[in-house]
Amino acid sequence: MSDKKSYYITTPIYYVNDKPHLGHAYTTIACDTMARHKRLDDYDVYFLTGTDEHGQKVQQAAEAKGIDPQTFTDEVSQTFRNLWPRLNITNDDFIRTTEDRHKKACQALWNKLVESGNIYLDSYGGWYAVRDEAYYGEDELTTNAAGKKVAPSGAECEWVEEESYFFKLSAWGDKLLDLYTKNPDFIQPDARRNEVISFVKSGLRDLSVSRTRLTWGVPVPNAPNHVMYVWIDALTNYISALGYPDESAPLYQKFWPANVHVVGKDILRFHAVYWPAFLMAAGIPVQHKVFAHGWWTIEGQKMSKSVGNVIAPDDLINNYGLDQSRYFVLREVPFGNDGDFSHDQAIARINSDLANGFGNLAQRTLSMIAKNCDGKVPAHGVFTKDDTALLDECYKNLIPNMRKEFDKFAFSRGLEGIWKLVNAANAYIDVQAPWCLKKTDVTRMETVLYVLAETIRCLGIAVQSVVPESAAKMLDQVAVPMDKRQYAHISPDNALVTGTELPAPTGVFPRIQPIDEKVA
Ligand code: MSP
Repeated sequence: MSDKKSYYITTPIYYVNDKPHLGHAYTTIACDTMARHKRLDDYDVYFLTGTDEHGQKVQQAAEAKGIDPQTFTDEVSQTFRNLWPRLNITNDDFIRTTEDRHKKACQALWNKLVESGNIYLDSYGGWYAVRDEAYYGEDELTTNAAGKKVAPSGAECEWVEEESYFFKLSAWGDKLLDLYTKNPDFIQPDARRNEVISFVKSGLRDLSVSRTRLTWGVPVPNAPNHVMYVWIDALTNYISALGYPDESAPLYQKFWPANVHVVGKDILRFHAVYWPAFLMAAGIPVQHKVFAHGWWTIEGQKMSKSVGNVIAPDDLINNYGLDQSRYFVLREVPFGNDGDFSHDQAIARINSDLANGFGNLAQRTLSMIAKNCDGKVPAHGVFTKDDTALLDECYKNLIPNMRKEFDKFAFSRGLEGIWKLVNAANAYIDVQAPWCLKKTDVTRMETVLYVLAETIRCLGIAVQSVVPESAAKMLDQVAVPMDKRQYAHISPDNALVTGTELPAPTGVFPRIQPIDEKVA
């Protein structure tokens, strides 16, 4: 393995009780963007996703379909696995919790927790929400119209009483608070961090970590009638995929502890409280960071099957195009905040930034080069102040500004910065008016077109993590070799070479017709 800096990023592993939707696509697209960004910035990246296949919720979903859970999970897991290439996701591995390598890791972790005195047998009575696969305290619950107890998430709870193994979570409160203090970035964004800290400060109860009423799970070592609680099983995926319990496995050596677990805000507690407590108790280093993103509503409403407004990832691709969808979800809402998905806003954003912004810049420049410069990268004379100002933005500011934001998952702000350069380049072409220079000063026209083509090269490199396919087309059109597409190549040393033959230009970001217009 190379000696480049390593970067390990994970998505949550998705429950297989349901088909993939916008929420799953969102987390995965964001992680993919970060993984690509880090690769372009010369890191060795490991990017993991997968499916969470055990637990009561999945068992019930299989029963409802009248098939055995393994057949059921094989099918649904495959729909996730098939989806990711369609969204151009570059995960390095896909872990399933029903795989042997994973079960082995869970049992090894369990044994460590037993050996360190963190697990004991007792009996349990408490309120459990199957939908959330989580327990709630009596004080957290409300009662609905049907007289059922309801968790803060809206999920109905049932009273559960059984023999259970417990994890001594109550013993880890101070260590967790210490972890958050010593690593102020451990939980991001900051508002979420404060929520977690007050939850831990309010006192942690021991956690029931096994089930006897359920068979669909990883068997607890030496306790044949117990299976593990689905969350201890699920969280372990982050290390089982790297080869744990073999701590000398090359992937484990290189990539653990993870740089970041990206999760939705609803599952932050599991990742920022339970998981680091399990790890510390087992003597395993703790991940560096958890980033919790917000939730999408659809045209102001919660996404739900009963409302019938669930957006399937394929709907996004069909309506807007893949890169356009990736761009929209990352640009429209700051990562970490909740957002509302509106069809009109999607079209407006895609048309203004992609079609009229970057697309138009490329189209105007490249078609002029095709017509007036023999389809080759033009020569350039001495650069004027305006030329140098634009090129300096590319060489000196583009990547540092974007890196600063993307490294914090501030994709929206990072893209806003990149589009300042797109707009500056469009303003430059308007002011320089190469179509007029064509008649008055061909040498100057060539210089202007050169500066624009070089700006497109730099922009194309910069946006690859977000709109990979379109960026590749853009870079092909200015004939950038495949091995010259890293951020480090945004420098005058790698500038376009006069005389290089360019392919015939084709539009990269078409304008999208609003659906009503399409029908009409
Ligand atoms: N299986 C657990 C995770 C285990 S990780 C060790 C799980 N799975 S899930 O399929 O229910 O959810 C996966 C992710 O999708 C979560 O991060 C959740 O926040 C995200 N989303 C589900 N609906 C969403 C929206 N409407 N909007 C944005 N993300 C949402 O939880």
